[in-house]
Amino acid sequence: MQTEVVAASPGIARAVELLRAGEIVALPTETVYGLAADARKADAVIKIFEAKERPRFDPLIVHVPTRESLQLVARMESELASDLAETFWPGPLTVVLAKGDLVPDLVTAGLNTVAVRMSDHPVFHAIITAFGGPLAAPSANRFGRISPTAAQHVYDELAGRIPLIVDGGATTHGLESTIVRVVVGDTIEILRQGPITVEVLREFGPIRVRDQTGRVIVPGQLPTHYAPRTKLILVDDLAAFSPTQQTRVGALSLRSAEGFAASRCLSQSGDLREAASNLFGFLRELDVANVELIVAEKVPNVGIGAAINERLRRAAAN
Ligand code: TXA
Ligand code: MG
Repeated sequence: MQTEVVAASPGIARAVELLRAGEIVALPTETVYGLAADARKADAVIKIFEAKERPRFDPLIVHVPTRESLQLVARMESELASDLAETFWPGPLTVVLAKGDLVPDLVTAGLNTVAVRMSDHPVFHAIITAFGGPLAAPSANRFGRISPTAAQHVYDELAGRIPLIVDGGATTHGLESTIVRVVVGDTIEILRQGPITVEVLREFGPIRVRDQTGRVIVPGQLPTHYAPRTKLILVDDLAAFSPTQQTRVGALSLRSAEGFAASRCLSQSGDLREAASNLFGFLRELDVANVELIVAEKVPNVGIGAAINERLRRAAAN
């Protein structure tokens, strides 16, 4: 299969046409690029699993065009969940809700819940609005690999497997959406940390952050996600790390590092939002920088820094 990479115009119209025909297309969102299919058609959704080589037990996120269209795919059973959607949609928050009948079991891997989000990326928004229905869209990478934050990353992962990539430039946040669900006692359980931070969610009620390496509730939360091919270790302080002469080491840190075969600084000014948007792209660059080891330094564990550290921990777990 030939994979076309096209700009928003004419990409929007082309994507809608393919989605209507039951095909899969890669689209930009404000977090990472997604691989979309009509969420109501199991035979379209199955192509996502095939292209990504994703195991069937790993459920997909469903994107809706409007808050009103949510009722087609899920039931809002708590006022708190409804408040969260009202506040953060469209935006980088995914809420796990009771699944509606319209959603095939394939999408949710047989769970009776469905993860729903509403993207605020203008290109994604234009496509899903014109399409007029729910889109299942996981990140557009092969299973277990780093999420794509640029059209070129998608091409590197999926060329020959999908018909179309709509190029909307680099994504804004650079990390996947925060995933939450509301549990008993109106506690917000964070299943995946992301751009909507713990500090911000705390305003809405008590928070519980799920331990990614401990309890596993869905297989998509496996500890070794976001893995570069090169071995990666995570350290508290890069200055305390001394590479042996024989090893070519790449460094990834918030501020600049010296004395390494390759290095990437996530943000000269130490800005964590900028660091998040650079993270996956820099990991990809270091992965092909001909180094034997990548040493990443933890960032301050505040705001989106917690989500960055969580991705780095998982990258180090492989
Ligand atoms: O930012 C994002 O969320 C991107 C963009 C493309 O929307 N999507 C994304 O999808 O990151 P994906 O499939 O790569 O990650 C979705 C995660 C998986 O870890 C999956 O296991 C979890 O969401 N998930 C999906 N449905 C769930 C459910 N019903 N309950 C709990 N977790 C669920
Ligand atoms: Mg993913």
